[in-house]
Amino acid sequence: MPTVSEALELMDYGPAPESTAAAMDWLKGRTFGHFINGKLTKAGETFATVSPATGTELAQITQGTEADVAAAVKAARKAAPGWAALSGHDRARHLYALARLMQKRERLFAVLESLDNGKPIRESRDIDVPLAVRHFYHHAGWAELVADDFPGMRPHGVCGQIIPWNFPLLMLAWKVAPALAAGNTVVVKPAEQTPLTALLFAELCIEAGLPRGVVNIVTGDGRTGAALVAAEVDKIAFTGSTEIGRLIRRATAGSAKALTLELGGKSPFIVFAEADLDAAVEGVVDAIWFNQGEVCCAGSRILVQESVADRFVTRLKARMNTLRLGDPLDKSTDIGAVVDEVQLTRIRGIVDQAVAQGAVLHQAPIPNGPGSFCPPGLLTDLGAANIAMTEEIFGPIVSLITFRTPGEAVELANNTRYGLAASIWTENITAALDIAAQVKAGVVWINGTNIFDANAPFGGMRESGFGREGAREGMLAYLTRDEATGPLRKPAAAPSPAPAGASGDAIDRTRKLYIGGAQKRPDGGASYAVKGAQVPLGSRKDIRNAVEAAHKAGGWSKVTGHNRAQVLYFLAENLAAHPIGDAEEHALAVQRAFYWAAWADKYDGRVHATQSAHVTLALKEPFGVMGIVAPEEAPLLGLVSTVFPAIAMGNRVVVVPSQANPVPALDLYQVLDTSDVPGGVVNIVTGPRGELADTLAKHDDVAALWCFADPETCRNAEIQSAGNLKPVWTETRERDWHGPAGQSREFLRRAVQVKTVWVPYGA
Ligand code: NAI
Ligand code: MG
Repeated sequence: MPTVSEALELMDYGPAPESTAAAMDWLKGRTFGHFINGKLTKAGETFATVSPATGTELAQITQGTEADVAAAVKAARKAAPGWAALSGHDRARHLYALARLMQKRERLFAVLESLDNGKPIRESRDIDVPLAVRHFYHHAGWAELVADDFPGMRPHGVCGQIIPWNFPLLMLAWKVAPALAAGNTVVVKPAEQTPLTALLFAELCIEAGLPRGVVNIVTGDGRTGAALVAAEVDKIAFTGSTEIGRLIRRATAGSAKALTLELGGKSPFIVFAEADLDAAVEGVVDAIWFNQGEVCCAGSRILVQESVADRFVTRLKARMNTLRLGDPLDKSTDIGAVVDEVQLTRIRGIVDQAVAQGAVLHQAPIPNGPGSFCPPGLLTDLGAANIAMTEEIFGPIVSLITFRTPGEAVELANNTRYGLAASIWTENITAALDIAAQVKAGVVWINGTNIFDANAPFGGMRESGFGREGAREGMLAYLTRDEATGPLRKPAAAPSPAPAGASGDAIDRTRKLYIGGAQKRPDGGASYAVKGAQVPLGSRKDIRNAVEAAHKAGGWSKVTGHNRAQVLYFLAENLAAHPIGDAEEHALAVQRAFYWAAWADKYDGRVHATQSAHVTLALKEPFGVMGIVAPEEAPLLGLVSTVFPAIAMGNRVVVVPSQANPVPALDLYQVLDTSDVPGGVVNIVTGPRGELADTLAKHDDVAALWCFADPETCRNAEIQSAGNLKPVWTETRERDWHGPAGQSREFLRRAVQVKTVWVPYGA
């Protein structure tokens, strides 16, 4: 027994285990089936879910078959019309009931989660479960308001939702609550490592008297997930690895299934010299160590300003050595078990490679004994190309490099394929907001990290996926609007080659591409004949040149909305002065040009009401360079109606006009030339649409693509977009460009991505 003074000196903790009795009682060595059409089904072929901290089996879980998935989807389909037809108020009552029941069982949920996943009880009890409950309350509210706040929108129908193992209950709540609030029914596929809290949730659905088939849960591994992706669902929402995200992008291409992907990250954690270093050290603890690094938005790349790097690293190491690794059910445990041996091996593999590539690893010794544990670690002396700087480790190992200037910090921060989150540490709020504006990330925390709220949009840019969860933005992901009801678009006919030896008169009437603010002959000089004119037969090379030109016009994305509006008004006036194409189309196009110019400084972001002491901003940012495959129909009006909202929001575009009638688009150069639109903001490339769309879809420097084209061109664009996982908006039916559908707000919404910036306050 230490004396009191010794105890104070040591400040050690005794064990404080949370009781697992209630959870064990609930489990009772059970063999679980699925939850389909309001009933727990009989078990099929099963596998074990284990506690990663001890390696012991917790329960047997059914491996869902294609037939199981089909039965669940059928039940969801049958329940969909009734659920959607309920009043928002009635749906809200159901969601409130679920929230309350979940709250009543908070302790059981938390213990089950820690048993099944290995995360410390402190995390599941204080973070996962309360946030999940909050999600259901928040979305009960949305159910009440959805009809009012989203006029003209309807639910998708049946949503397939695939969930990872790192936040099993919380990710379920993030997906199920908004889907139900919007009036969808769901089929949920939990991760094979952590299905237990989802199965407990199934019991709550029964207890809450939720109508049968509204929520269905099918357990199993990736094969079950793949079956769900292939099933007759209207939407897939997936959270997990980028690799599987890509597979799902390809698998759903051309299916008209809506898709949101929340994928991996390699988020920067930027520490400036002006930071409160002790707070930043605690930030690292929260960002990467407490949760075994199993957070997609984990700040796993520390960038620290050189002048404070030594001090910071010293404090970081000291803090690392005080973290307690061990029993997840002990209330004083900081770091629990890694979810399974596969993940542990993956972590070790990347760390070993990083060390082989020259990194230095600082890590406490690996404990002996059962369970998959990984002590916290810090990698230093890394080159920019080191695997630990580029690959997601998904373990409690953080990489650290230094920078000199803020500019260098931004460059390093953005030197990644990912764009999920960023964390910025400095007491200089002006500098912090300046950096926040420049980092490519869907979520930015200032002097904080891993803060979530049901009323704050969450989701990534670049290869971290697309779509947002949470808040109004997240509701939109579960709603759709029926606008394009015209006939299916047909593929453009093959271009007819130019007549040999064109006369002087024909040369006069030869149009040119418009790239970087200048008329350009197409690469190779080929042209095709259309309606008495010669038009350039653009190629992949021309698209690449246009993308490069668009990149150089980055200033357009930075000027104020007011400046853009002024330029666009002038452009609209010039369009009015140049009668191009069909007179009626032209008149309407002029009106549209003014309409979208008007929006340039009005499509605002929001300030969300989240946790106290934060101003949580949802900023609407342009994508940067966008590709637009304009419709064949309405060759001028369709082009103006798509290009103008995109540039009004600050994007630069490469547009592929109508192939059959490209002359009005090409003649726009006169209007662009005589206006103040900077060169490179609008680039026009005519030619074989299928091929040009394919190039835009594949291009890593095109951040988003709109494709108003035939089904095959759209499907291919979706498949090819799996490379950099750009969001692709495809529309295979003709739109009435002359009517209100021609100036839908959807064009604005699709032209921006939301960046959520958490700004703390407090004296
Ligand atoms: P995963 O992406 O394979 O699993 C996520 C979910 O997708 C699970 O429910 C799984 O059963 C399901 N799934 C697997 N294959 C599927 C398919 N072909 N079609 C449909 N669903 C499928 O991730 P995994 O293997 O568990 O972890 C691998 C790596 O992914 C981790 O090391 C980590 O880097 C990353 N990861 C990222 C997460 C995030 O939150 N962004 C979550 C989990 C893992
Ligand atoms: Mg497990």
